[in-house]
Amino acid sequence: MGPKDHPAFMKEHLRSLEALRSDGTAKGEFTNSDEVLKSAIPAVMENRKAFGLQGLVKGLQAIIINTEQDNFIPAIKDLLDYTGMDIHSSFEGVSSMDCILKAQGSADIIVRHRKAKDNPFRERNIAPKTASLPNTRLETFVFETPDIERYVSVQRERGVRFLTEGPIDKDNCSFIQTEPSPYTGNSIGLIQWTGQRGTYQDDCDTDLDIGIRKRDAPHLKNIKHLDHAATRLVSRSRDLAILEFMELTNYHFDFAIYVRTMNSITNVARLSDETYAQVFTAGIAPFTSPETSGPTEKYVHNYGSRVHHLAFHTENIEDTYQTLVQEGLGFLIELVGSPEEGLKQTFTRGMRSTFLVNEYIHRYGGFDGFFTRSNVTDLTRATDVQ
Ligand SMILES: [Fe+2]
Repeated sequence: MGPKDHPAFMKEHLRSLEALRSDGTAKGEFTNSDEVLKSAIPAVMENRKAFGLQGLVKGLQAIIINTEQDNFIPAIKDLLDYTGMDIHSSFEGVSSMDCILKAQGSADIIVRHRKAKDNPFRERNIAPKTASLPNTRLETFVFETPDIERYVSVQRERGVRFLTEGPIDKDNCSFIQTEPSPYTGNSIGLIQWTGQRGTYQDDCDTDLDIGIRKRDAPHLKNIKHLDHAATRLVSRSRDLAILEFMELTNYHFDFAIYVRTMNSITNVARLSDETYAQVFTAGIAPFTSPETSGPTEKYVHNYGSRVHHLAFHTENIEDTYQTLVQEGLGFLIELVGSPEEGLKQTFTRGMRSTFLVNEYIHRYGGFDGFFTRSNVTDLTRATDVQ
């Protein structure tokens, strides 16, 4: 990554992280620590106040998953068959085909096939195990804002780079998104509802009959809202990715779990205790070789930096898991955890249509944490086969 790759608003953080590291770490031996990250965080909070960004970004409204043309319907089918999401609308516009999937109390999932050849994410999509699907990525996390014009004018002034000159005015909303992050390859979208909330389709878009429907299967009703999404990234980008996300949203860094035996840190950023959480998983030290680098750095080596999994809150998780297994859905690991520990989780295999793993997660009453160290360890280990 050259100096020009860092957006202007990140340069101050870059300098302070380098200064903090040069105190404690010998040159060339990069290693992450919470001490360094936490020392850099007060500057983000001061920026938010100084630029009037406090309260300007609300919760997650939607995620956008782009697919190859052939995988547009398979990706929708995977979500219908293996999550609680159902089709709200599907339509074709000038630049894309879109299917909007919704579930009660959840951020929406937009499955998209971009028709244009040029894809701003393409460079970030190519890695040894992903090169055959160069347009496939969970590209964008879309957050709601009450004032998109103000957000864009403040952030542009600070050097945030957007994909369009200004917000795109649609029938019911105004939308803009950032260029892919140099640290994660993900984009942050902002949406301001100006008409009917939750309606993404414009009058000029054509309805699309995609010919598939959700099955009426009881176990799918147990799978509820999107709880968190986890992005995997290289160790050197961990602090920068979290600071950048905090600069672009109103999220705060909550905690990190270090799994030293697997060279992996799982970091959680939150807006509040009840809402969707953003998870970042990175190596403690950089990639060396497939044999010695641990599952996290190895995944990024094979797939590039991208979202690894989508986690869905799941009721009756034991029965739901058993039914999905009986139906032939492949898993990387059995259910881990217990009611005594406070939560149960599991990972499916990556979906062929999107590379995305589904996580099913249940927190038992009274559990006041978010993750447990033992589950994070087991789940991280399970991804070694990817
Ligand atoms: Fe997770």
